[in-house]
Amino acid sequence: MTGQEMDFLGQVIESGFLNDGPLTEKFEAQIAEFLGVPYAVALTSCTAGLYLSLMALGIGHGDEVLVPDITFIATANAVKMTGAEPVLVDVDLETFCISADDAKKKITNRTKAVIPVHVTGRPSNIPALLQLCKEHTLHMVEDAAEALGSASFGGFMGTHGITGCFSLSPAKTITTGQGGLIITKDATIHGRLRELKDQGRPKRGTGGDDVHSSLGFNFKFTDLQSAVGLAQLATLEGRIERLRRHYEIYAETLDNCPGIRLPNFDLADGACPQWTDIYVENGRDELHQHLKEQKMDCRKFWFPIHRQNAYKQDDKQFPNSIAVSNNAMWLPSSLNLTDEDISSVCHAIKSWAKSPQLAARS
Ligand SMILES: Cc1ncc(COP(=O)(O)O)c(C=O)c1O
Repeated sequence: MTGQEMDFLGQVIESGFLNDGPLTEKFEAQIAEFLGVPYAVALTSCTAGLYLSLMALGIGHGDEVLVPDITFIATANAVKMTGAEPVLVDVDLETFCISADDAKKKITNRTKAVIPVHVTGRPSNIPALLQLCKEHTLHMVEDAAEALGSASFGGFMGTHGITGCFSLSPAKTITTGQGGLIITKDATIHGRLRELKDQGRPKRGTGGDDVHSSLGFNFKFTDLQSAVGLAQLATLEGRIERLRRHYEIYAETLDNCPGIRLPNFDLADGACPQWTDIYVENGRDELHQHLKEQKMDCRKFWFPIHRQNAYKQDDKQFPNSIAVSNNAMWLPSSLNLTDEDISSVCHAIKSWAKSPQLAARS
């Protein structure tokens, strides 16, 4: 929060209008313009965005939706909220994103949609997934929670599907404390999303004379959040540049580091790593501990969804997601880190990788 957040918040408080109003419209318009789409809808969270996207497409009980086994659990939970079944799909070892090959195997006559998750901002295999959607008449809803400002295949992530959903929770490229965004190029879907986020009202009346033309809920954003969002958005390009720089230093310095692999971000194609992640061939937990002891905060990857209680399944179908979950972790990637900070993390990783214990590990 280094920009005009306080000024903009002060203006909203002075105005006396705190609800989802003119500032939220401005925030939505600026996001839509940045991403090059006609419509953006701000709402309470990315989870709500995924849920409403599926609802707007008429997906519910009896339907199936393909979801990667490596993701934050929100992706699967959003499908469950509609009454449809999330069908878990293994991931690619190169990208940690949904495997188009495995997705193809999991399609049944109940499958209605696929939700690729651009893990850490790294683009999923969009061309293969779009081809699959075409062949099997599926919708693609992008979980771009971690991919604001990351681009590939000729457009920003989130713009390739019928909708794209972003998270504004803390540690994302921009944050409003909590919050989410849905973008779409489809006017009808946009209309449905607006109704769904506001109790089924296409337009707000006085409160008494409102027409609720469909079922809907309260997933509204607030102008307080938009004040913060607009201030953050003004610095988005600088943030993207900084995150790409983090990755560049990590990639250059850790090149050829034994036992460490950085999944590729194609910076030239426009990809932006929201965080930098690595795959540790042997001893991920040990390296995590080693960095933690030096106050270099890292995060181990998620457990696979199929190992979480609500989605328990046999391990057999998910060899890659198990490997990613056991061996991957996120390196320090905070926006306020300097080049020197990143270099010292690289130094700590390299000295760990070369330590005598490595022989014992491998
Ligand atoms: C991949 C992914 N999907 C969905 C979400 C959910 O976002 P939110 O917390 O805004 O609901 C997150 C949040 O961190 C995420 O990382």
